[in-house]
Amino acid sequence: MYKSCNSARQDDDMSRASNDPDARFSDRYQASSAAALLEAELEVLGGDYQANGYTTLSQAEQIGFALRLQPGDRLLDLGSGCGFPGLYLADRFGCSVITIDPVSSGATTASARADRDSLADHHLAVIGMGAALPFRERCFDAIVHADVMC
Ligand SMILES: C[S@@+](CC[C@H](N)C(=O)[O-])C[C@H]1O[C@@H](n2cnc3c(N)ncnc32)[C@H](O)[C@@H]1O
Repeated sequence: MYKSCNSARQDDDMSRASNDPDARFSDRYQASSAAALLEAELEVLGGDYQANGYTTLSQAEQIGFALRLQPGDRLLDLGSGCGFPGLYLADRFGCSVITIDPVSSGATTASARADRDSLADHHLAVIGMGAALPFRERCFDAIVHADVMC
């Protein structure tokens, strides 16, 4: 009896974590600047954006070409985590990017990265959910979302 109550509570905790992006990703984003993780990311994905998915830098570049990104474009990166791939695309193609994600530690990391890459004038980090975007209609030239289901 005790065991089943306990496992029900664990199921509850797991279900809450999987439905709440902050519970699921916040700790991970705070730890993602560890040298060993950045080294692994560089080796596996080709970048060091503290990415939390499977999209490689070269796939991100292909997305940029497919979207025909160019300077002056305004890109939305939905579910951007720590800013990948939006910040990479802004750097590579010269566009502006708004990153949006419900996890605030990701937004903080994305802003710091934009500063380091001299992209602060071309980047805005927004904390929010895909189902309730705080933007007027048709204000983006392109939208990207990498490893996001929402
Ligand atoms: C697997 S991570 C990918 C992050 C980033 N695109 C990358 O490649 O590193 C998925 C991200 O989607 C975000 N997310 C989950 N539900 C969301 C929603 N409803 N709206 C916007 N973002 C959401 C999470 O907070 C998380 O940062």
